[in-house]
Amino acid sequence: MNLIVAVDLSWGIGIQGRQPFYIKKDLKRLRKLTMGKTVVMGRKTFEDIGKPLDGRRNIILSNNPNFQVDGAEVCGSVEEVLASLDGDAFILGGASVYTLFLRFCTKAYITKVQSQFEVDTYFENLDILDGWQEVEVSENMEEDGLIFKYITYERAY
Ligand SMILES: NC(=O)c1ccc[n+]([C@@H]2O[C@H](COP(=O)([O-])OP(=O)(O)OC[C@H]3O[C@@H](n4cnc5c(N)ncnc54)[C@H](OP(=O)(O)O)[C@@H]3O)[C@@H](O)[C@H]2O)c1
Repeated sequence: MNLIVAVDLSWGIGIQGRQPFYIKKDLKRLRKLTMGKTVVMGRKTFEDIGKPLDGRRNIILSNNPNFQVDGAEVCGSVEEVLASLDGDAFILGGASVYTLFLRFCTKAYITKVQSQFEVDTYFENLDILDGWQEVEVSENMEEDGLIFKYITYERAY
C-alpha cells in the first residue's frame, strides 16, 4: 500500500479543513500516479476535494452509516477498507487516515515544499520515524514562487 501527501517544512498538511497550498504540477503527478488504482480518503478530505476522483476506485472512510456518494464506496472502519482492497491502493489522507493506514504502507510519495505555512494538521516526520528511508529525491521545482521537490520513502521493516 502507498500513501501520497504534500507537506511543508514542518510536515504540515492542512489548515481549517483545506490544504495550505495547492500546486498544479503536484496535482497532475498525483493524478498520474493514482490513475486506475484505488484511492482511500477520510470524509473531510473528500469534502475538500468535492467529488470522487475520475478513473479511480474511490473509498471514503466515515462513521456515518447514512453518508453516501455516487461514484464512491463508503467504509466504516479500517478493517472494512482492508477487506475490500483488491490491488494497489493509495492513501490520500487526511491526517487521521494517514495515521490509521501508515503501518500498512510500504511506500510514501512526499511532495516537500520548501516554505513554512500556517497549519493546524501534520503528517508524521518520516525523516525520524523508525523503518522509513528516503530512496529517491527529485530536483527542486518551482511553481508560482513555491520551491518543492518529490521525495520517495520506503519502509524497510
Ligand atoms: N497536504 C496534503 O497532501 C493533504 C492531503 C489530504 C488532506 N489534507 C488535509 O488534511 C486535513 C483533513 O484531515 P483530517 O484528519 O481532519 O480529516 P480526514 O482524515 O480527511 O477525515 C476524517 C474523517 O474520516 C472519517 N474517519 C476517520 N477515521 C475513521 C475510522 N476509524 N472509521 C470510520 N471513519 C473514520 C470520519 O468521518 P465522519 O466524520 O464522516 O465519521 C472523520 O471525521 C485537511 O486540512 C486537508 O486539506 C492534506
